[in-house]
Amino acid sequence: MKLLTKARAYEEARRQEIADGERPLFHVSPAVGWLNDPNGFSVYRGEYHIFYQYYPYDVKWGPMHWGHYKSNDLLHWEPLPAALAPDEPYESGCFSGSAVETDDGRHLLMYTAHLEQTDPDGGTRVTQGQCVAFGDGRDYQKYAGNPVLTARALPDGGSPQDFRDPKLWKEGEDYYAVTVNRTAGGAAALLYTSKDALNWSFVTTLAANHGEFGGMWECPDFFKLDGTAVLAVSPMHMKKQGLSFHSGHGVIAMLGDYDGSTHTFTRKKVQTVDYGLDFYAPQTLRTPDGRRIMIGWMQAWASSGCVPEGSKWFGMLTVPRELSVKDGVLVQNPVRELEACRFAPVEHRNVTIQEKTSLEGVRGRIIDMTVIIDAAASSCRSFTVSLAADQEHRTTVCYDLERDVISVDRSLSGSRQDIVHFRQMPVRKKDGKLTLRFLLDRFSMELFVNGGEQAFSAALYETPQEADGIFFEADGRISADIIKYGIR
Ligand code: FRU
Repeated sequence: MKLLTKARAYEEARRQEIADGERPLFHVSPAVGWLNDPNGFSVYRGEYHIFYQYYPYDVKWGPMHWGHYKSNDLLHWEPLPAALAPDEPYESGCFSGSAVETDDGRHLLMYTAHLEQTDPDGGTRVTQGQCVAFGDGRDYQKYAGNPVLTARALPDGGSPQDFRDPKLWKEGEDYYAVTVNRTAGGAAALLYTSKDALNWSFVTTLAANHGEFGGMWECPDFFKLDGTAVLAVSPMHMKKQGLSFHSGHGVIAMLGDYDGSTHTFTRKKVQTVDYGLDFYAPQTLRTPDGRRIMIGWMQAWASSGCVPEGSKWFGMLTVPRELSVKDGVLVQNPVRELEACRFAPVEHRNVTIQEKTSLEGVRGRIIDMTVIIDAAASSCRSFTVSLAADQEHRTTVCYDLERDVISVDRSLSGSRQDIVHFRQMPVRKKDGKLTLRFLLDRFSMELFVNGGEQAFSAALYETPQEADGIFFEADGRISADIIKYGIR
């Protein structure tokens, strides 16, 4: 049987075996099996489409397919049959890529064909090149002339083994794609252009890694936002820098200027995109009403083998986030469409919290909750919110008011893995206040600080759903407003 037909039949049958309550409500999870990066996040014929790196047959990474969903509001996703399978002689996996709508109404996917071949001496030879496929929002045909962008178009010193993850966009008559490539110094983000998406030529190296910000980069994105050029990449094997960049794989945004006439990107600032335990490989789209929306993989590679026993699926995407640049900072907030999904508001204003406190109506595992701390009206050093809690389980978010640091700890979340469960992020008070917005969706927690100045994402796979308690605690006295909604 053809690989794609087989995957479609398999996922259709197995999807039914996963009850609604066994998945997140408004976060994307795979039809069945494994999910990693978001791919092809785009608007096509007025609907949002998201694809994802997909291996249907197991809850671990395998020969990559593309899974597929569509949505009208970025939160309720309708499953569609798998879009790509690695079924051509030039690929053993369909790696990450992106999508746009063509002027003649086709849905164009651009992805990396990852090919592993065995050498006569028994070694494995890897090559990566970029391919395209055209479709109607459901079925896609790979172009007969694939791959369309190969190592031959690399600048000197580029590695043909690591050349991937094209992020495509259209500007006037021209297509552009930014890709990543391994170089002697680490990695580079390369810009290519094409008139027809089939014949590509090299434009420039937008940015390169000279021993800074990890080794190889993955999953680039490049866009203009609020007058600032933003180049986002996911560096592998980064070295920790204070609380700014954690060790391992993470995501950075380079903010700067872009001169379109010379194609020169000048980096002015670099920031962590998400401080959390689980965030990687994000990608953005532009909505018809002009918003830039980002969605990421809510998982760390380092803990991606820690799949709870009996899982039928593994891997989630983050909530789609509206981006803006404010005071030189990339700001992110859950898409405004989420407001229409809120119900049952509960409000507690000017609450004084001392010892461990629970509040009437404040609990749940599918919630949107904002806590505004009035530091000026408080006398304590630390304030802790415990979520997804019962006698045995909890994930804690602790704010140190003196150091202005937030520590997140999920070591008591029920996880049976000795992986990274603790991480800190620096924050700052604004007019004496700190605002924390929490999104919980059964298997995850996302935290947005001060209207999205910072974000922190964490998967919570092993906390039983009955653990839905929320507790507040201060080592002194603190005053806070708490506003909580359910989400449906
Ligand atoms: C990032 C990544 C990409 C690659 C894909 C393979 O998580 O390694 O660079 O295209 O995953 O699944």
